[in-house]
Amino acid sequence: MERPVDLRSDTVTRPTSAMRAAMAAAEVGDDGYGEDPTVRALEERAAALLGKEAAVFVPSGVMANQMALRVLARPGDLVVAGADQHVVAFELGAAARNSGIQFALVDDARGELDPDAVRAHVDAEVDHRPHVAAVFVENSHMPSGGTPWDPARFAHFAAAVGRPVHLDGARLFNAARAVGAEVATLAAPAATVMFCLSKGLAAPVGSLLAGPADLMAEARIERKRLGGAMRQAGVLAAAGLVALDTMVERLDEDHRRARRLAEALAEAFPASGYDPATCRTNIVVMSHPRARELVVDLEREGVLAGTLAADRLRLVTHCDVDDAALERALRAIARVAARPVTQS
Ligand SMILES: Cc1ncc(COP(=O)(O)O)c(C=O)c1O
Repeated sequence: MERPVDLRSDTVTRPTSAMRAAMAAAEVGDDGYGEDPTVRALEERAAALLGKEAAVFVPSGVMANQMALRVLARPGDLVVAGADQHVVAFELGAAARNSGIQFALVDDARGELDPDAVRAHVDAEVDHRPHVAAVFVENSHMPSGGTPWDPARFAHFAAAVGRPVHLDGARLFNAARAVGAEVATLAAPAATVMFCLSKGLAAPVGSLLAGPADLMAEARIERKRLGGAMRQAGVLAAAGLVALDTMVERLDEDHRRARRLAEALAEAFPASGYDPATCRTNIVVMSHPRARELVVDLEREGVLAGTLAADRLRLVTHCDVDDAALERALRAIARVAARPVTQS
């Protein structure tokens, strides 16, 4: 039987053979003593790419966000964020459990946040509301369909909100390719920024948190407290360096294929009102009242998809989905749309 076309997430990618070779050959040391040359090379490379003073290699994007919370806010503080953002909705309550931080939520249905809505929370401090320590944003914004922020609007936003901004850039390179900007330009307005190597860039493990040197020194302490300090992690960092060398420009292919999927879904399910032009990176999110049943039907047709909610279907393209796999997915969508949705 043919392998299913896996569109559940860009986290399902496997390391390329160049990554595996680099991992096998990596020079390593104990990163606990700062002696792993490959980790140091990756951290220096990431800091330079992002235009920040320093960067810290961490096992996961969640840990990078959690470290940012801990260096930017204290227990009891408010952090303003979009209601659907990963740090709010997909980290299993980690902000509360790990750091005693509460969120003030603003609308992020279209990806970008309204600076006035954020300012309203900041201004409420004079009415004896909790201290707003930071603002978290996501670029690309996954739940709205991988929406990239407009770079000029983000710069305006960060200047307007009056608090340090952390940028969850799990897919920052996708955003950069989509808007035709350097990642450093997208990161410049933010105090701290993280990106993931393990999503569209296809490395097996790892994310980087970057920012001012003093904050990153604190972040290293928080990484240790969270159990994320590693030893001969150069075997992982080596794959990350190859990812940065070889996997960035090809993200355009993922974006092209995602748009084809978006167009096919819009055509197959016109009642959804889905506008495929909103798909600008590698994530397709379409509202459908019975999204979960659609996932079951697609699986029967050899396509793995996912949901963000009972009424939100999500498909994600990545380097392991080539044009042949795309065509199979397009045919599956047409077949599923042509018959009644599975009753469960
Ligand atoms: C926007 C966003 N931020 C953070 C993360 C967390 O990354 P990780 O799975 O490496 O912990 C994800 C994961 O999918 C994500 O989509």
